[in-house]
Amino acid sequence: MPVEPFLPFTRPQIDDATIAGVAEVLRSGWISSGPQVKAFEAKLSEFFGGRPVRAFNSGTCTMEIALRIAGVGPGDEVITTPLSWVATANVVLEVGARPVFVDIDPVTRTIDLDRAEAAVTPRTRAVIPVDLAGLPVDRDRLYALAGKRGLRVVEDAAQSFGSTWKGRRIGSFGDFASFSFHANKNITTCEGGCLVLNDEREAALAEQYRLQGVVRTGHDGMEVEFPGGKYNMTDVAARIGLGQLPHLAEFTARRRELARAYFEEFDRPAVRSLGIGLPVANFTDSNWHMFQVVLPEERMDVRRSAVMEELKSAAIGTGVHYPAMHLFALYRRMGWKEGDFPNAEYAGRNLLTLPLFPAMARSDVSRVVRALSSVLENHGKP
Ligand SMILES: Cc1ncc(COP(=O)(O)O)c(C=O)c1O
Repeated sequence: MPVEPFLPFTRPQIDDATIAGVAEVLRSGWISSGPQVKAFEAKLSEFFGGRPVRAFNSGTCTMEIALRIAGVGPGDEVITTPLSWVATANVVLEVGARPVFVDIDPVTRTIDLDRAEAAVTPRTRAVIPVDLAGLPVDRDRLYALAGKRGLRVVEDAAQSFGSTWKGRRIGSFGDFASFSFHANKNITTCEGGCLVLNDEREAALAEQYRLQGVVRTGHDGMEVEFPGGKYNMTDVAARIGLGQLPHLAEFTARRRELARAYFEEFDRPAVRSLGIGLPVANFTDSNWHMFQVVLPEERMDVRRSAVMEELKSAAIGTGVHYPAMHLFALYRRMGWKEGDFPNAEYAGRNLLTLPLFPAMARSDVSRVVRALSSVLENHGKP
């Protein structure tokens, strides 16, 4: 029986003032999209250096809407990584275009931009890079490629809220930037997302796609030129976001401290010799959304799920982010198969997300690394 309390791999942190603020919104008589959403969008726009920002009820829909605004549709190709939450490629299918996967760089675990360039065809319209675990894809090379080949970029920055590239916030420059405020993200609205856009014309289109294509004028004017979805954020969610934003800097700083602690623990000689793959030790740009290790499958006599099970028995939660998505039945039916992207497949089988969230203690990090090391020691191949 575990003696320690269960340590989840992540846990949201919502302060009492935010909870009281939500209660106020609930009592206010206006609980769907209204003044809180406007206020949240204004704060987000400030955060992103004055660029237009609109809030939505998920990160997924922000990517779909960005593709629609960019005019991506049937016959078009969109280059992306197979190592992401499946939303990244599903949205390409949703707009009727074809995702084109290219393998990851095994060190950063993000899209290999050389392979992305090699995959460009006359039908390529856009690229969706994913800042996995909060580590930004090289924005200099990304935008050099997009500029040279005339591609739109939809940054899947779902995990990189608060990350930077050479001192500039992700989302404060570039083309479309899409963020998620899902419960596991560095700041949350329970569910939600936002899209950073280039100009007011795109922002107006985003509003139309967000709510049934409707454009209102005056007190009673309404027009619809094309269909939209039902993707608006509620004021309840926006109030949570407003209460989360002021904590971002402290959350990110704490995540970085804990990530450093992981590196210290993994650097002990007895642990190093186990051959566990570590993430890039980036303490300037990454928001450390996750701390993910790669298990050394060739040295183990069990698979990842058994490791997870044993860690669970030791009261430690872990996660899988993500299986390589080209191997899901949906994408296999489109022609992808094992062996297409060896780096993503290896990572997809062996990545393990370890606990990392601001309220964790330094001693939790030691406990996790001790437990993982002991599991791997017990399961070494003879
Ligand atoms: C990399 C990535 N892309 C897209 C999404 C989609 O965001 P949401 O769950 O808010 O729709 C997520 C979050 O779950 C994500 O982690």
